[in-house]
Amino acid sequence: MPAVPSISRQKAVESIREQFTLDKPLLESLIARFQELYDYGLANHGAEMQMIPSFVTGVPTGSEKGTYLALDLGGTNLRVCEVALDGKGTFTIKQEKYKVSDQLKQGPARDLFDYMATSVDNFLTDFGTTSTEDVLHLGFTFSFPVEQTAIDRGHLIHWTKGFNCPDAPGKDVVQLLQDSLDRKHIKVKCSALVNDTVGALLAHAYASNGALISAIFGTGTNGAYLEDISKIKKLKTAQGSITHMVVNTEWGGFDDERKALPVTIFDNKVDRESIRPRNHIFEKMISGMYLGEVTRCVLLHLIDQLVLFQGFASKAFNTQYAFDTAFMSAIEADKEDAASPTSATRKVLVQTMGVKDEYVSKEDVETVRTICEIVGTRAARLSSVAIAATMVQTGNVQGNGANDDGVKVGMDGSVIEFYPRLDSAIKTIIQYSAFYITDLSNLTLRKQHSDERSVKSS
Ligand code: GLC
Repeated sequence: MPAVPSISRQKAVESIREQFTLDKPLLESLIARFQELYDYGLANHGAEMQMIPSFVTGVPTGSEKGTYLALDLGGTNLRVCEVALDGKGTFTIKQEKYKVSDQLKQGPARDLFDYMATSVDNFLTDFGTTSTEDVLHLGFTFSFPVEQTAIDRGHLIHWTKGFNCPDAPGKDVVQLLQDSLDRKHIKVKCSALVNDTVGALLAHAYASNGALISAIFGTGTNGAYLEDISKIKKLKTAQGSITHMVVNTEWGGFDDERKALPVTIFDNKVDRESIRPRNHIFEKMISGMYLGEVTRCVLLHLIDQLVLFQGFASKAFNTQYAFDTAFMSAIEADKEDAASPTSATRKVLVQTMGVKDEYVSKEDVETVRTICEIVGTRAARLSSVAIAATMVQTGNVQGNGANDDGVKVGMDGSVIEFYPRLDSAIKTIIQYSAFYITDLSNLTLRKQHSDERSVKSS
């Protein structure tokens, strides 16, 4: 005899829906709070939303030329690339991905930076270079909060996204990388340091002439935009004739004081058990590293209420981060009959998560789909808040961006790329930005496709 649930399935799901639904007044209040924190961060060091000046003082036009190396740390993999800009708004790129082990992510900084230097060396050995320069120039995309003091200098403030080399915060990451390169006699000079949001902004601007806002929805989430220099009040030194600078918002840290965000008990659990509790809560409600984990916590709660799987979990369901965000993509894309023994949802639950097949009913499959949709929709709405708030901040709500041809938001990252109902997620973003943006025809949400980023990758 199956155990009797303590609550009806419908009531249990409705209660979850209620906790995850963000209505329009709430979304508006979040946008207003974004504005306050943007202003505070632009004027003060050490703010929760750090608003980091990037020392990038303009955006490309597409006419730039040259061949450069790039190193990218901060997502799922370490990437080394050689990029050749042709001056016509297009480029070719050779790239190689390298795995970063948990041991490297959490061990001494020297090991991690030595590994990066070795990867650059391996890349040059495998691919060679088309550059004729004696010393190769490398741009370092380091996707963590860094207090930048020059285009090639910046101190790590703290780690995010599961990295935690304890001796790195406070150190200049360009220096750490250069020391490792020099120790190994690799003739490469690290000439520029950028956050991935800043890199994305530059790449989209290069390819589409005038993206002034960028957003990353990947392992983490963050945004950057071109700010009026007079508004960056915490920049003490005179910036000469410079009128604008790209600011890395670090919006993952939005409302870490929790004055506005409706944080659920599930978010609290994810946060409490993460490497940095009480930090980047907004990111933990949105990004690829955490979305699956939030969903796992909700599903476990429904298992405990005997609503799902007759109350039986599995080892994987009891393992932190075992429910990958990619499973949500697969489940949301699954249109097969919920009773079908071959549905992708059932496969995830039984084959990957190890729930016994006989415990998974047709209704369970439907409920799991609904929960993924509820958690994913909240993430899309919160993402839209960040984009809308940034548009308001730049004054670009009416499409007075570069060349007056509208507001371009360059978006990048695995969640925006692989989310199955991407179109609807984007439409949600537009819909929820709509109360601020009067003329939506001027808004272009520009997704960078993998094939645009890479012609040769391995
Ligand atoms: C995290 C990092 C931030 C980065 C973002 C996206 O929020 O703190 O620097 O831009 O992830 O990768």
